[in-house]
Amino acid sequence: MEVITRRDADQAVELVARLLEMRIRAKPESVLGLATGRTMEKVYEQLAATGVSFAKCSSFNLDEYIGIPTDDPNSYRTYMQEHLFSKVDIDVANTFVPDGAASDLKAAARAYEDRIKAVGGIDVQLLGIGEAGHIGFNEPLSSLMSRTRDKALTPTTRMQNAGMFGGDPERVPKRALTMGVGTILDARELILLATGPAKANIIARAVEGPITSMVSASAIQLHPNCKVVVDEAAAAELQGRAYYDFVFANEPEWAEFRD
Ligand code: F6R
Repeated sequence: MEVITRRDADQAVELVARLLEMRIRAKPESVLGLATGRTMEKVYEQLAATGVSFAKCSSFNLDEYIGIPTDDPNSYRTYMQEHLFSKVDIDVANTFVPDGAASDLKAAARAYEDRIKAVGGIDVQLLGIGEAGHIGFNEPLSSLMSRTRDKALTPTTRMQNAGMFGGDPERVPKRALTMGVGTILDARELILLATGPAKANIIARAVEGPITSMVSASAIQLHPNCKVVVDEAAAAELQGRAYYDFVFANEPEWAEFRD
């Protein structure tokens, strides 16, 4: 794992958008694993502004709420359409979001896993992190080997996402269909982005704490090719900063991002 700390959220976002742009330019037929949430909004804005072509890409989103229609303004399909798909040349037929509106959720989950396998797996998976440590909607106690399935959301997550539902956590759906931790770990590269002081404690636990299903993001420690990009605020509780910064300052890969 590498931990890259940028001065502020804008710089952290810029680095992640640039990494994704580079991955797509290097492999135009990339299979992208995408995340939603507030942190990613600017990433997609910047990525779209690079003008990189998504024409040959396909994409798989991490998760979708259960119990709201696909075209609901708060669905993650709508979010992706608004923030990315409508702004780039991706073929929408090649974009996949778990079907939280399916009548048979188990079958929808299996189909999602099969589809990822059929395209040869995910090249690069973008991740945010929840305040309770989730990646995707893998809430505490998610098996580190879990696959796509439906999962009950924690009160913390429903509170965190209430902003999109008029500020009322009770209006946030109770369940979601999410890639499992095991599904996420199968991606060939992980890029986790977290910004702001509310993420400082959970970032320290995910990066430096024990690997535990209580913090599903800690499973990224098992991944051989994982980058964690944070701003100063989200890095505030990391113990190993000096070493992480030393690596960033010396690795040729990061030359273009150094001040
Ligand atoms: C969304 C997702 C979640 C978010 C996380 C952070 O698809 O998978 O894990 O990435 O909840 O959300 P924000 O960025 O809103 O703090």
